[in-house]
Amino acid sequence: MPQDLIVGLDIGTTKICAVVGEVRDQQVDIVGLGCAPTAGGLRKGVVVNIENTVRAIRRAVEEAETMAGCEIRSVYAGVGGSLTKVINSQGIIAIKDREVSPADMTRVIDTARTIAIPSDREVIHTLVQDFLIDGQDGIKDPVGIHGVRLECKVHIVTGAVTSLNNIIKCANRAGLEVSGIALQSLAAGEAVLTDEEKELGVALLDLGGGTTDLAIFAENALRHNFVLPVGGNNLTNDIAVGLPTSLQHAEELKKLYGCCLNALADPREPLEVPGLGGRQPQTMPRGRLAEIVHLRVAEILNLIAKELQRARFAHPLHSGAVLTGGTALVEGLPELAKEVFNLHTRLGYPMGVSGLIDVIHDPAYATGVGLVLYGFRAQQKTRPGVPGSRYSSGRPQRGLWSRLKRWCKEVV
Ligand SMILES: Nc1ncnc2c1ncn2[C@@H]1O[C@H](COP(=O)(O)OP(=O)(O)OP(=O)(O)O)[C@@H](O)[C@H]1O
Ligand SMILES: [Mg+2]
Repeated sequence: MPQDLIVGLDIGTTKICAVVGEVRDQQVDIVGLGCAPTAGGLRKGVVVNIENTVRAIRRAVEEAETMAGCEIRSVYAGVGGSLTKVINSQGIIAIKDREVSPADMTRVIDTARTIAIPSDREVIHTLVQDFLIDGQDGIKDPVGIHGVRLECKVHIVTGAVTSLNNIIKCANRAGLEVSGIALQSLAAGEAVLTDEEKELGVALLDLGGGTTDLAIFAENALRHNFVLPVGGNNLTNDIAVGLPTSLQHAEELKKLYGCCLNALADPREPLEVPGLGGRQPQTMPRGRLAEIVHLRVAEILNLIAKELQRARFAHPLHSGAVLTGGTALVEGLPELAKEVFNLHTRLGYPMGVSGLIDVIHDPAYATGVGLVLYGFRAQQKTRPGVPGSRYSSGRPQRGLWSRLKRWCKEVV
């Protein structure tokens, strides 16, 4: 695999997608995309069937390899918010020579992250929130500033060791090395948010199939994340039960005619609904489908609005909300979200890359593209919290046990 290729592997509840980026002139060109249905491999963002997940990873990677004309050996993988917990911590050091040096900065971050982490959890990211010099807060780049005491506030994102190992195990069994792991919301933010939005305060909502993840960015850092274990699959289920029809037809009807605002579609328009188990199809008004869709979407948005209300006290959202993930495409959802959140709302399509931009122009690819961008930035500068080599097995064919033993050796 050429050095300048970076691959993002988004292991989602409904689909696994591999996005291949090529670095050219400090810019990422998307050169390949492969997607495969997860087919029961995951439930609400958590691996529940290794075989199915491995099979879907292989299919997605093979498709991406064919499109990009390359062999994929290592990936940056995403981890869902439901598997993670955030711990806030703080570090304090005395500034050597009374002027903050890059070494002081690294030392204070190290001090902040030296806290007791339960043995069943592992650090995924150490995200700097703020630097303080002699009590003065709001310092983003302390290097070169005079002072006596340097403090640093960090968000430590941890994941359950077992769940992280399952993701790594699936990737390894599909013949892939994991170069790094990133929180899916953080990756999606890399692909769909502008620097200005992240600076002014924005709520990023990733409406997936199994979960709805909320991430709040302000002053250029991830400040808060929250996961609702409800997503587009629940919408499909509601439609299948409510009409009634099969899950497959409910999914098709949702994508083609589902709408959560009656003003946007004619509620009297007749809709043919295929019957369940060989029964005759029924004709019903489109408004019936809209009612079901509206109920579930409004429920999700209202639950998120409550969380936003709490978070907004600490972080004003001057840039409003950005909606991404496949379920964001439900007709009328951005309009309804604007009403419920009382915020400017837009759809989040992947950006900040070139190449096959038409192919990745879908909110469902935000995390996959974001993982490529995350990998690109991680390679450019070794950011604090980028696990890099910690997840690199070097020999992807080998089993989980030997990899764990090697980790233990590295740590001791
Ligand atoms: N055009 C569309 N209209 C409505 N829903 C859509 C559309 N396209 C995709 N979806 C829905 O989006 C969901 C999949 O979104 P996405 O690919 O972002 O999820 P995922 O990453 O697999 O899951 P998760 O992030 O929850 O683990 C499915 O429920 C699918 O039905
Ligand atoms: Mg997803």
